[in-house]
Amino acid sequence: MVIDDVALDTLFRDARTQNKWRDEPVSDETLRTLYDLLKWGPTSANSSPARFLFLRTQEAKERLRPALSPGNVEKTMQAPVTVIIAYDPKFYDFLPRIFPHNQDARSWFATNEAFAQETAFRNGSLQGGYLILAARALGLDCGPMSGFDKAKVDEEFFAYRGWKSNFICSLGHGDPAGVFPRSPRLDFEEACELL
Ligand SMILES: Cc1cc2nc3c(=O)[nH]c(=O)nc-3n(C[C@H](O)[C@H](O)[C@H](O)COP(=O)(O)O)c2cc1C
Repeated sequence: MVIDDVALDTLFRDARTQNKWRDEPVSDETLRTLYDLLKWGPTSANSSPARFLFLRTQEAKERLRPALSPGNVEKTMQAPVTVIIAYDPKFYDFLPRIFPHNQDARSWFATNEAFAQETAFRNGSLQGGYLILAARALGLDCGPMSGFDKAKVDEEFFAYRGWKSNFICSLGHGDPAGVFPRSPRLDFEEACELL
């Protein structure tokens, strides 16, 4: 099935990165719905390495504050929710359950740390992209950011689990006053090649 132009506008053409947020909460139920959509996006060997820590209280956001780049502080503290998109370097321990038709899959990664790391980062990043599109599909706006101190975030939130942060993304309903003029994208001829 092909989705219509309204849906394509919502997901891509009209969707903008947000820097200011309206005072409208995002429920925990919406966050569960968000995960239950994004989890279906494909990952290699169904590895599903991304982990998502939703900071939705002022107290939780205060723990993030010291790690943020100065330009990202105010908008992050103002957002209803900011999610840390992380990945689990030991994602392969779940493979016997979530990639059941090949019980060897765990060992591909467990015996090769560099391959496991590359797989976790690639697929965890893809899942972060799925989160952005799923959020937009649910009527939420996004404000993705990589301007933060990863080591500080990992120490503050993930020390005991060993997860690694990738990027963060505020979620909510954006205030159009905080949207920058749309920057151009590369043309097809610049970014693509047909062989
Ligand atoms: C992974 C990622 C990291 C980003 N990091 C930051 C950031 O640290 N601070 C910031 O203000 N914007 C950040 N941005 C926002 C981008 O500059 C913005 O998404 C891009 O310019 C496109 O804007 P548009 O969606 O409004 O067209 C980031 C975006 C992504 C996807």
